[in-house]
Amino acid sequence: MLTWQTINTHVMITTAQLHLDKVTLTKKSRLADQDVNKVPFGKVFTDHIFVAEYEDGKWIKSYIEPYGNAPMSYAVSALHYGQTIFEGMKAFRTVKDETVLFRPQENFHRLNKSAIRMAMPEVPEEIFMGGLVELLKIDKDWIPTDEFGSLYIRPFIIATDEAIGVRPAETYKFVIIMAPAGKYYSEPLKVLIESSYFRSVEGGVGFVKNGGNYGRSLYPTILAQKKGYQQVIWTDSKTHQYVEESGTMNLMFVIGNKVITPGLEDTILAGITRDTVLKLARLWGYDVEERKVSIKEVIEAHENGTLKEAFGTGTAATIAHIQTIGYKDHDYQLPPIEERKFSPKVDDTLRAIRKGKIEDTFGWMEKVC
Ligand code: COI
Repeated sequence: MLTWQTINTHVMITTAQLHLDKVTLTKKSRLADQDVNKVPFGKVFTDHIFVAEYEDGKWIKSYIEPYGNAPMSYAVSALHYGQTIFEGMKAFRTVKDETVLFRPQENFHRLNKSAIRMAMPEVPEEIFMGGLVELLKIDKDWIPTDEFGSLYIRPFIIATDEAIGVRPAETYKFVIIMAPAGKYYSEPLKVLIESSYFRSVEGGVGFVKNGGNYGRSLYPTILAQKKGYQQVIWTDSKTHQYVEESGTMNLMFVIGNKVITPGLEDTILAGITRDTVLKLARLWGYDVEERKVSIKEVIEAHENGTLKEAFGTGTAATIAHIQTIGYKDHDYQLPPIEERKFSPKVDDTLRAIRKGKIEDTFGWMEKVC
């Protein structure tokens, strides 16, 4: 039986059961060759992976095996037609040396939302949570110990039919891989408001974590990088007058005493960090507005001195401060990070909650037993 429980007494203890068909442990751990507190983001993976296989309309088996290359045909539909979805989530090592997950239920539900939109099978909770917990128990020593460190967890589903006809596949794999991670961005960002390309369209798949959303973002990002920016701010596909997300993150502004962010339309991902930040903002007495945010409003707020902060929110980065916003050949400089009140407080508070240094009043952390 696999169990995990919250370290916060306000939240119900959850239990999941999963029968693993096989556990094959690596003969030689790679952990001793790594300094998990120093590895670059997403390039070094832990010793083991979890896999569940789907065929004939059901999840038929699940197993843990050493990390390695995927045994699959070059014809699989995930590669050709992008029938692939993923999640990003994090585990932390607390000051009491416990392994904790941040809001894992939210990732479980969002993965299945993505699955429905991409005509893929949903993953049952006992497979998602049970596989994750079992994998973490085996590879927990890969979790960085330093203040900014975490174990980035990447659950994903890929269509594995060996067939190049365009139709929903009949076979899938749900896989979890994990990578120790430090800070995603080392410095505040310079971002360019993108007015030609767009990330998502109404009726499209912008609200789910489909691989294609990320692949299509690369070319406009390279163009922005050639102009000296690190990321773009995506705008709506119809008018390019309203901001939507930034890079791979949700986007927020502090204007006056308000925390303002684009509302959750179907072009925008319902970020778990986004929701977390908004909950903290409300707790701390900020007015929170989730609605359309026009470029005009942001520039006017900059000009009249009320634009205090701009930042991205996401699992990988948590908070990515935006220092400069470029729009139509003009760069708008924002106040220095040291003068900002809200987003640094969010960053510090979340880090303290995740490391078990302060009380988790929202019940966000789940302890892996
Ligand atoms: C995340 O923040 O988890 C993301 O999805 C970004 C990722 C593509 C690195």
